[in-house]
Amino acid sequence: ENPERARLQAGYELADKLYQYILHNTEQGKVAKEYLKQRGIDDKLMEAFGIGYAPDRWDTLVKLLDKNQFPLTLMEQGGLISAKQDGSGYVDKFRDRVMFPIKDWKGQTIAFGGRIMGQGQPKYMNSPESMLFHKSRILYNLHAARPQIRKTQELVLFEGYMDVMRSWDAGVHNGVATMGTALTQEHAEAIRRLAERVIIAYDGDGAGQTAAYKSIPILENAGCQVRVAVLPGGLDPDEFIAKHGSERFVREVVEAAVPSIKYKLLYYRRNYRMQEDGERLRYIQQALRMIAGLVSPIEREHYVKDITSEFRYSFETAMQTVNEIRLQAEKSD
Ligand code: CTP
Ligand code: MN
Ligand code: MN
Ligand code: MN
Ligand code: MN
Repeated sequence: ENPERARLQAGYELADKLYQYILHNTEQGKVAKEYLKQRGIDDKLMEAFGIGYAPDRWDTLVKLLDKNQFPLTLMEQGGLISAKQDGSGYVDKFRDRVMFPIKDWKGQTIAFGGRIMGQGQPKYMNSPESMLFHKSRILYNLHAARPQIRKTQELVLFEGYMDVMRSWDAGVHNGVATMGTALTQEHAEAIRRLAERVIIAYDGDGAGQTAAYKSIPILENAGCQVRVAVLPGGLDPDEFIAKHGSERFVREVVEAAVPSIKYKLLYYRRNYRMQEDGERLRYIQQALRMIAGLVSPIEREHYVKDITSEFRYSFETAMQTVNEIRLQAEKSD
């Protein structure tokens, strides 16, 4: 074990304790607590996720680290504090933010996400990459969700901190988040080692739906079976729960997740004005090309049936088209 790593990790652990202490036991913490409560996070959930508050001061953490003989240069290199511009010392990196500890697979704190309360930029500030924290490998909440993921062989993939926490409260204990960044092959391989199936539950806005579409092949190439939960009205999971409640979230979003093929067929529709004959036909052609690429004949038949019955086209003609596309693809191989 590398001693610098261990020291930095201890620094993150101390910061974690400090931020939680301030949230729960100080006057300054009250506003943050109020903010969290108003977002539907009660004390129990705050404690379960180790949420804290970084006060609106310049050196609360720096002083504590210094008092406990932590090497400040190392703490700065590790992204826990910032160096002053003029080189005369260090200041706290996170100020006046609600703090979400990010943990490794052992449950040790290795980074933070800090949210501003209300408007302002950036909305979230995250710890930078460090010898402890590699964003392309870490999934938020994987440590806590691991037992349920293994047991059910299923993982629910969210974008953000709030989505994971609110859905945990709704009974979804196999949820993790990519923290906004793109899902990587490394993430997918780590997921596959724990579970056979993944439900992507990204935000219902355009960005979230595109990110879901792009994540499908990454997960499937790693060997996962993929379904996608479609969030209505551009809502994200946290907003859906606030608006419609936990039960409807589980039933109408998580359990109603559709197979990846079905999701792709829905996703393509964004690019066509489906009320117009010509556009609809072009959509169907794109759909049939995708279906032709499916390895399983049963699946090909299933989805051709789906689409031809929805739009009242002939199943035989569509199936013939699919077979022609396959023949051509074989020839050009
Ligand atoms: N994110 C980030 N930095 C930002 C914006 C987002 O790191 N400036 C990450 C966070 O992990 C965030 C996730 O991307 O949770 C999803 O982003 P977004 O949907 O914009 O935020 P929400 O999670 O919905 O945040 P909130 O509900 O608090 O507004
Ligand atoms: Mn490294
Ligand atoms: Mn989003
Ligand atoms: Mn969101
Ligand atoms: Mn949100």
